[in-house]
Amino acid sequence: MDLFRKKQISDLLAQQSPLKRTLHTWDLTFLGIGDIIGTGIFVLTGKGALTTGPSLALSFLIAAICCGFAGLCYAEFASMAPVAGSAYTYSYISFGEIVAFIIGWDLLLEYALGASTVAAGWSGYFNNFIANFGIHIPKILTAAPGTTPGVTTVFNLPAFCIIILITTIVSMGINQTKRINDTMVIIKLGVIVLFLACTVWYVKVGNWRPFTPYGIYSFHKGVASGVIPAASICFFSFIGFDSVSSSAEETVNPSKTLPRGIMLSLSIATVLYIAMSLTMTGVVKYPIFAKYIDAPILAVLAKTGQGWLSMIVSLGAILGMTTVILVQIYGQSRITYSMSRDGLFPKFFGAVSPRHQTPLKGTWFFGIITSIAAGFINLNILAELVNIGTLTAFILVSAGIIWMRKTHPEIKRDFKAPGVPFTPLISIIFCLTLVAGLNWETWLRFIIWFAIGMCVYFGYARKHSVMNKQNK
Ligand code: ALA
Repeated sequence: MDLFRKKQISDLLAQQSPLKRTLHTWDLTFLGIGDIIGTGIFVLTGKGALTTGPSLALSFLIAAICCGFAGLCYAEFASMAPVAGSAYTYSYISFGEIVAFIIGWDLLLEYALGASTVAAGWSGYFNNFIANFGIHIPKILTAAPGTTPGVTTVFNLPAFCIIILITTIVSMGINQTKRINDTMVIIKLGVIVLFLACTVWYVKVGNWRPFTPYGIYSFHKGVASGVIPAASICFFSFIGFDSVSSSAEETVNPSKTLPRGIMLSLSIATVLYIAMSLTMTGVVKYPIFAKYIDAPILAVLAKTGQGWLSMIVSLGAILGMTTVILVQIYGQSRITYSMSRDGLFPKFFGAVSPRHQTPLKGTWFFGIITSIAAGFINLNILAELVNIGTLTAFILVSAGIIWMRKTHPEIKRDFKAPGVPFTPLISIIFCLTLVAGLNWETWLRFIIWFAIGMCVYFGYARKHSVMNKQNK
């Protein structure tokens, strides 16, 4: 039984795609930014600052370097194999079916759990925002059970509703998805630039001292602290550039536009994150973020006395996180579409609606599961699983580039990652460092998820793989 049977790039390129090609470089860049900038900057900066102090910018830089090197590898793969499926397809080509399945299974974690986690953060900002207009959702319907200490909550209604709304948009078609995403991304970027322009003047260099109060890696009150653990948290902020490569079959001239979209979105996000983290920790002494853990940006506005900006920033955060959910649900549906087309998932997930030209049923299936998860599950403890799942995908894509350069140097690449094998090796080292920064419970949960995946692979996928027919 060949667990490592591989797909040939020539076969993949020969496949006719029923999806519609309409995306150009800027759409992809916006898609990338849509998925990258969200909870990481609007919610997690507080936790990051408490973990490492003013050196949060350094943690963002480390996470950016990790993602930048991995991004170069994604870009090279995208130019070699511009087909849907992202890291899943790349692993199928380089390492074979079982590794591809593992990565596809990981990506389910990245996108589905990621969308639920972001929806929970979205809900917090949304509840605060509507409260400004005197609208209050009953407390028990504002969060999943056990999320807020001392408060009884049973269901996160806003999180549930936003996922259902977004699933509707994504299932309607790529043009609707693109238009809505582009508009919201422009507003989100505008709000971040406005925030920086208004608050940067209040930075006090003294707030940056000491710059690394917890060092590179230490334990503070029993919690992993310092630059590396904070970088592992910041990593979540960069997740999403890889979803650009899931859109290969809806992209015009993908071998050139995909690498550009990946690198542009990553670069823009990095500059904004570093500017934001320096400004935030420069205006507010970092321990103060403990009081603003769900909306750290508001700590800055409280300090500068610019309360008028908080409504605008909250709106930016709401729209910002909306696009993250949008692109994650989109990416999710394209990964399961690819896995279903390869027979590793039931046909149901790959059935394309002739009217909307989208994998309608699969999109709704996961949309419903994701919305229920966001409504009922306390995601605080599960969010780091998204990081470990994504880091694993990055490691395999990076290793895949070294392997493909060695075994298939003849394949045409419109984009070549510079400095191979060092670029992917650095990416792998950084990813492993960030995995080490995660806590052991996350590793354990990841191993359980992996074990369930193996049951699905040996119980279903292996028997139904279309490679069985090809090998006869
Ligand atoms: N990068 C995305 C965010 O920060 C997942 O919300």
